Amino acid sequence: MSQDAIEQLLQQTMGLSSASIGSSAIARAVQVRMRELVITSTDDYLRRLQSGTIELQQLIEEVIVPETWFFRDRNPFIALARYARENWPPRDRYGPLRILSIPCSTGEEPYTIAMTLLDAGFGPSDFSIDAVDISEPNLRRARLGLYRENSFRGDDLSFRARHFIKSEQGYLLQPKARSQVKFHHANLLAPGFLSGHEPYDVVFCRNLLIYFDRATQARALKVLERLLQPEGLLFLGHAEAGVLAGQKFSPLDHARSFAFMRGANQRAAQVENETPFQLPKRRRAITPPAPTPAARPFADVTPTAPAAEPASRPQPDLETATRLANEGHLVEAATLCEAHLRQLGPDAQAFYLLALVREAVGESSEAEALLRKALYLDPNHYEALTHLALILERRGDLANAALTQQRAKRSFERQQNEAAQRAEGV
Ligand SMILES: C[S@@+](CC[C@H](N)C(=O)[O-])C[C@H]1O[C@@H](n2cnc3c(N)ncnc32)[C@H](O)[C@@H]1O
Repeated sequence: MSQDAIEQLLQQTMGLSSASIGSSAIARAVQVRMRELVITSTDDYLRRLQSGTIELQQLIEEVIVPETWFFRDRNPFIALARYARENWPPRDRYGPLRILSIPCSTGEEPYTIAMTLLDAGFGPSDFSIDAVDISEPNLRRARLGLYRENSFRGDDLSFRARHFIKSEQGYLLQPKARSQVKFHHANLLAPGFLSGHEPYDVVFCRNLLIYFDRATQARALKVLERLLQPEGLLFLGHAEAGVLAGQKFSPLDHARSFAFMRGANQRAAQVENETPFQLPKRRRAITPPAPTPAARPFADVTPTAPAAEPASRPQPDLETATRLANEGHLVEAATLCEAHLRQLGPDAQAFYLLALVREAVGESSEAEALLRKALYLDPNHYEALTHLALILERRGDLANAALTQQRAKRSFERQQNEAAQRAEGV
């Protein structure tokens, strides 16, 4: 009961839907806070939460996902530079190009915007960036401008030599890019959010809406619209474009930039059809071999009798979860997968889908753990194998990536043979 009330409080305050990160992640965060406060009952902790904002902010710090890095997805920044070069300054306006980055986490995104525009030839007075996040510790790190290897990912790190100074503590962003960004502590869903600020020409709001349910996404979108100039540009995360379905936003003509122009509704229908990423169709279920006691790394995957559900409750189906994920409704997809696992017990496809959703929100290690659960139940799950191989490759474990890819290839060949035999009626 108290757990439900805590999840509701988080949802109302910061928008976080428990389905996006999982109820267990919220329960773990609550345990951390209770240990810190030496509180042993969840009811007492709930009362503490309800008694003021200080503890609520502490819990928010525990549940947020700060995952970010410089030039996260290249295309949005290439599109921004092109847009700025072609459209700025407009004939009828003076003043700098005004940009908002929300949520900015530890600063990598707004600083990437600054480096992009400086590298594109814009001067410091040509643009200004406001950067907002709900987490004070994140903002403190952002203001410091000091970063470690983990903030630099991908092949092209040439920007690092141009904009950073290497020190013993890490890489320090040079003042030229740093001074372009002003950081603010705020909650996108708080009443009157940035109400005193002039509307922005460009808003980056990437990898936040994926944590909200549909009603909260709609609420957030209203706030973002209010903050945008009539023809302002909105950049979303690659799994979030579906949120704009039916809205008066038109996609910018730049592949995979996930940038949308406000008020330009002539191509709005296209937004509806945007499929940010495609999940494969539900594969044929393969019965897993009975696990030997020695090969049971995931205690929580042990098939157990599912809890009895009221007869009238519709069973969560994975076809719908796949469709929702394809449409960018990741929270709903995750909710269905979790309900499926709760009501019907462990299922390779549910773990696999949940892994894709977790990966889309940048939680690769959680995704990897879920893929391993899927493969424990179904060692021949081709999609889970190929996905795991990708994750291993990305984190530099090339030997295991190659082995997993070989397993995927064998699984594919086996499925082809089985299909051929079925067709021949063997
Ligand atoms: C995954 S990071 C995204 C950072 C960056 N936009 C990116 O795509 O790399 C999510 C951030 O959202 C922030 N956040 C969560 N809820 C928020 C809210 N209601 N208002 C403002 N920031 C929020 C968290 O503190 C966290 O730093």
